[in-house]
Amino acid sequence: MLICALATLVLPLLGSGLVAPVGGEAGGGRKTLAVMEVVEGAEGEGEGEGEEAGDGGDSLLAFPDDSPAYELDQPYFDYEESANVTALLGKTALLNCRVKNIGNQTVSWVRHRDIHLLTVGRFTYTSDERFSARHTAGSQDWMLLIHYLQKRDEGIYECQISTTPPASHFIHLSVVEPETEIVGGPDVYINTGSRLALTCSVKYSPEPPAFIFWYHNEKLVSYDRTRAGVVVSTERGVVSTSRLLVQVADTRHSGTYTCSPANSKPKSVNVHVIAGDQPAAIVHENHGSVGLPSHSLLFICLFCIMFSFSIISSTPVSP
Ligand SMILES: *[C@@H]1O[C@H](CO)[C@@H](O)[C@H](O)[C@H]1NC(C)=O
Ligand SMILES: *[C@@H]1O[C@H](CO)[C@@H](O)[C@H](O)[C@H]1NC(C)=O
Repeated sequence: MLICALATLVLPLLGSGLVAPVGGEAGGGRKTLAVMEVVEGAEGEGEGEGEEAGDGGDSLLAFPDDSPAYELDQPYFDYEESANVTALLGKTALLNCRVKNIGNQTVSWVRHRDIHLLTVGRFTYTSDERFSARHTAGSQDWMLLIHYLQKRDEGIYECQISTTPPASHFIHLSVVEPETEIVGGPDVYINTGSRLALTCSVKYSPEPPAFIFWYHNEKLVSYDRTRAGVVVSTERGVVSTSRLLVQVADTRHSGTYTCSPANSKPKSVNVHVIAGDQPAAIVHENHGSVGLPSHSLLFICLFCIMFSFSIISSTPVSP
């Protein structure tokens, strides 16, 4: 009775309780707006400063009628041939800077993070031997090579022409590493008798992996002939995939499955093969929340109400 009364009280409260967090979020949103306004103000000030620096750069591109003839010969960047770069971890990145009308100016590469001068013309100026300048005489391309790429190499690199003031072009370098993914992880639930299909994909690998191995509870699956019914098929390409298939799964197939490509980090999933008629959906529901599902509360409550009515009606009325 008491439980029922409490439930009747709590249920509408829950409804209103749902509104409360939404209101709170809206408040948070307003705060964010306020911060944005401040940032915008700061940007406004920054723009003013930026304009001065921009003026120097503009003089390179603008050709006023009264400008001396040599201004037309000022060097300028070919932006299309000096694009952002995405390169693979551990490999070599090639950053190109194409400069037209170079004249007697020089082109330098500067790492923006710490304003570190890397190259000047065809010479490398850093002690880090992973960096090198590359330029062919007569070519418009001034290249920066970074070998054995590391994650910390990611960022902005500045190609600078030695004019007064210097002209700069910024190139962003992204360093990506191979990624291994198993669809549906980290937990997979299936019933006994149904099909277990796991798909592992490998992307951003420098070349398709020479092999992709599967492990079940740390035992190699792929070449284990005793594991009847387990089939592994691999497709190699820009994105390589490997599929592990068990046509009729039983509880022995439960456990940790690890996909281990030759040139990428391994990835694991936990497979739970549920015995009997237990529907997988219920297992999912209980997995997420501790306690009874909301609809069973409703049934208890209904039962409660019916029970209390029966007590009331069966209470003998004293004459
Ligand atoms: C570069 O060339 C300009 C004319 O094109 C000349 O005035 C200047 O002295 C030259 N500078 C050097 C360092 O040779
Ligand atoms: C280069 O990358 C930077 C940083 O991600 C980005 O802001 C810029 O728009 C990119 N430039 C081009 C031409 O894609």
